[in-house]
Amino acid sequence: MKELLPEKLDKPWVVLLEAARKVRLKAYCPYSGFQVGAALLCGNGEIVSGANVENAAYGSTICAERSAIVRANAMGFRDFSRMVVSVRAGTSSAPTEPAAPCGACRQMLNEFVALVGGELQILLHGEGCQKVRLTSIAELLPHGFEIQE
Ligand code: THU
Repeated sequence: MKELLPEKLDKPWVVLLEAARKVRLKAYCPYSGFQVGAALLCGNGEIVSGANVENAAYGSTICAERSAIVRANAMGFRDFSRMVVSVRAGTSSAPTEPAAPCGACRQMLNEFVALVGGELQILLHGEGCQKVRLTSIAELLPHGFEIQE
């Protein structure tokens, strides 16, 4: 995982980061207060985003990343080249460390990346934090589960 300053990002990353920060405002997280926004860059250049949605039955919660994936799938997109995940803990202006996708989200991302081929670059952003982190699904989920026909 590489740490870098947001000023070093190319234009497509900057646009995707803004989409992730924007959708993060839609997070429904009354239980954890942890807001997450995820934005996927699809093969045709379209950006599809999602936020975390919690529930009083805590286990029913859906993460921002999977929220974006199922939305993209319904729109007919499964080829993702880049994803930004932006997080913010609570409402104070204190900086939040970037957070990596959970195991379930990694597994779901891996499936579509394997299906389509190619690689998924992932940028992690914490609100108010100086640096962002650049990684990939290959780095986050080596040897992911796949059913062999
Ligand atoms: N969350 C995500 O949205 N993505 C992850 O990869 C991990 C966790 C959400 C779920 C829950 O609403 C909150 O963060 C705290 O766990």
